[in-house]
Order: sequence, then structure tokens, then C-alpha cells
Amino acid sequence: MNKHHHHHHAVQRASYRTVDLEALHAAGSGPAPAPRTREPQEVHVTLEARETSWELAPGTTVSAWGFGGQVPGPLVVAEAGDTLVAHLVNRLPEPTVIHWHGIRLASSMDGTESVQTLVAPGESFEYRFVLPDAGTFWYHSHANEAVQLERGLYGALVVLGADEPAFDADRVLVLDDVTLDRRGRSIARPALFDRHSGREGDTVVINGRAQPELEIAAGQIERWRIVNASSARYVRLSLGGRPFRIIGSDGGLRPAPLTTTETLLTPGDRVELAVGPFDDEGAAIAIESLPYRRSRMKRARYTRWGTLRVGPRLPSGAVVPETLATITPLVVAGSLAPTRTIRLGARMTLHGHDWLVNGDTHHRDAPVKAGELQVWDIVNETGLDHPFHLHGFFFQVVAADGQPIAPASWEDTVNVPARKRVTIAFRADARPGEWMYHCHILEHHAAGMMGHFEVVT
Ligand code: C2O
Ligand code: CU
Repeated sequence: MNKHHHHHHAVQRASYRTVDLEALHAAGSGPAPAPRTREPQEVHVTLEARETSWELAPGTTVSAWGFGGQVPGPLVVAEAGDTLVAHLVNRLPEPTVIHWHGIRLASSMDGTESVQTLVAPGESFEYRFVLPDAGTFWYHSHANEAVQLERGLYGALVVLGADEPAFDADRVLVLDDVTLDRRGRSIARPALFDRHSGREGDTVVINGRAQPELEIAAGQIERWRIVNASSARYVRLSLGGRPFRIIGSDGGLRPAPLTTTETLLTPGDRVELAVGPFDDEGAAIAIESLPYRRSRMKRARYTRWGTLRVGPRLPSGAVVPETLATITPLVVAGSLAPTRTIRLGARMTLHGHDWLVNGDTHHRDAPVKAGELQVWDIVNETGLDHPFHLHGFFFQVVAADGQPIAPASWEDTVNVPARKRVTIAFRADARPGEWMYHCHILEHHAAGMMGHFEVVT
């Protein structure tokens, strides 16, 4: 390193295009524009990626990597229409980059190796983009992910609309799991066999803490925004079998609340819940995941994540409206002819497995023309589930195994079960440039299960 430049950290500035919000909303692939209460602002955050010690539980501290030395990284909160200015400073011993999962931004701000040079140790990079949509998003490293995310380089990003439903509390829960090395002092390096099913850690954490105790006042209703940041773990979430209401997913609010007792979050997924009201003061409710078999090679297991205690009763000001959002279907039933087929496959190699899209690792797919309706058939030819994630655009899930589904959400991540087929639809707005899709099991992504495509106007 040049001594004279020891204290100088070069700032790379990408040329970024401003997103035309009107064109973005006119294309119709995403939530309707959120009304505003104030003038748009700039929200500034510095995200220094660095080594840190991560206290997983009282007395269990491991060496990790975190943004701002925290795991998860700082919670970023803004209002739809605001501009996020995020200053990444790399203090890691290796290059990194930040991807803004679920944000409809310009391709040059997407934070992948396809659109920018990785940020070298000692260097920085300024991301700057408008946040067009209200919802629950997250940011994470998009370099050497199976190591960097596992060590803690992720955080949540909440974008508020001006007319959000009223809750007694708004919480963010980021779920993760980690494997410790044999001495229990640091996060274990990825093992070769993780390449098959992806790594599921032996310690599960919510907001970086094992077995947390949360408290909800009896009579109150809270909004829980949940992000699954695990490398490979599927979370079939349950609250001790108590009913809750799903109010939103990857791309913001659903048309109406859906009452259920469980919901599946794949890696990369988000869900928003209305939790409560509970009447039994003093009750201890398990925050748990029910057994789910995502691979024939793995046993389905029950996991306890933490405890929700019902505290002393408090008055409630929460109102969960019967109508939350309007989602206009992109395709009319009966016209599901796919414009593209994406086959998820595998092949044995000397080092285990390659994970494929249409027979290739790191597949180069055909360009997508802005404005044209895309109907993609995603066919899983393997014996395990894959969470399919599309960068930069929301889609609707329009069919499962050829059976039409009335879309009830905007998604950027969807589970494609083993040997099944899922059909998605979207219409790209004019944000030209390089984009990608991939399996969000980080080891599968690294082993090639991804596609690159260009959006052209
Ligand atoms: Cu959250 Cu390319 O990923
Ligand atoms: Cu996969």
C-alpha cells in the first residue's frame, strides 16, 4: 500500500440514474404510490463493515463481521419517496458490496458484482437512491455471501407509507442461524458438504440474540416485520399455535389481512404480521418454527426461537383495516402462456454439486424489454426446494403447477418446492441495465444457480 495514501480512503462514485417514479408506477409491477405527509428527505447512514464481537447470548460472544460493528446492522427507517444515502466503508480484510434486497432502484445501485466493482479493503462507496415503496426490506453483503452473511453482514430497512395502519407497536425481527467453530469462539467456515443443502446453523437468533424474551401487553396488537436472513433455513413460523394475521409480504401490504396459525419464510423472504390481542396475562408463547422438509436429504425439525410473554393489560389504539391495499392482477386468468422457462437443476461434479439454471452455472438469460409482460415458468427439477429471488422488480405469483392463483401480494422471493413449478408475472419498468435472479440459499447461489439478464428499453 502507498504510505502517502494510508489515511486516504478513495470514494468510488458510480454514475447513477435517477429513477423516474412516474414511469415506475405506470408500469404497474408493484405497490401503488404511497401518499406523503411531508416533503421527501435525504436519509443518511454510514455502514462500516468491520470485525466485531457478537454476543449471541449472555456469556457467548463470538468474533463476527457487522455493519457498524452490530449484528444485525443498524435498522434503517425512511419514508417512501425519501432518498437513502448510504456510505459503505470497508474495514474487512476482503472486498465487499451491499445489495438492497427488494428495493426498486437503478441498476447501478443494485450492489452486485455485475453493476459495480467490489469495494476493496480500506475503500468506500456511496449508494444513493430513492425508496419508491413502503414495506419491509433488508440489505446484505453480496460478495462471498456464504461467509459474509453468515458472519453477520446484514440489516433491515423499513420504508413507511404516510397512511400506515395504526398499531400499538412496530417491531422488526431479523431471523438468522449460525454455526460456531469447535471452540465456540467464532463462526465456522463453510464446509464442503454445505454446498449440497446449504448451511443450517446450530444456534438460531432473533435480532442477533439466541432465545430472546419479548413482551406484548395484553389487549394490544403489534405489527411484526419479519426478515429471514438465514443462509438456508426455512422457517415455518408459529406463535405457539395462536392465530395471527398476515398483513404484508415482500412488497408491502396485502389486499386484506389473512388469519392463520403459521407462515413459511424462505431465506430472503419477509412477512408482516398483526400479532395479538392476547387476553391471558402472564402466558408464555413460543416463537417457534414447525418441522418443514425442504430436502429429502434433511430431517424436518421443530425449533424454538424465543418466547413472547403476555404482560399486564394496556389500552389499545390499534386498528387493523379490512382493506389494506389494492393489487391489480397483471395477467387475466386463462392467459398463462409463459414467455420464458427457467429450469432449476443440479449436476454432480468432483467437488460435490453444481447448481444450475437451464443447464448452466451463472446462466446468461435473454434481455427483458421494458413494458412487456413477463410470464416466467420456474421449474424445479431437483429434489429440494429453492427460494427464487428476482433483483430490482416485484412479481406476482400467478400459478403453482399450472393451477392459477389469484395474486394477493407483491413478491421478490418465492419458494419453488422440489419437483414443482411456479409461474410468476411482472412487467419491468424502464430501469435499463444488468439485473439478476438466483436461489437465495447462499451456497446454491455461489454454486451457480443464478441468471443474469439485461433490461432494455
Ligand atoms: Cu438478497 Cu441477490 O439477494
Ligand atoms: Cu437453491
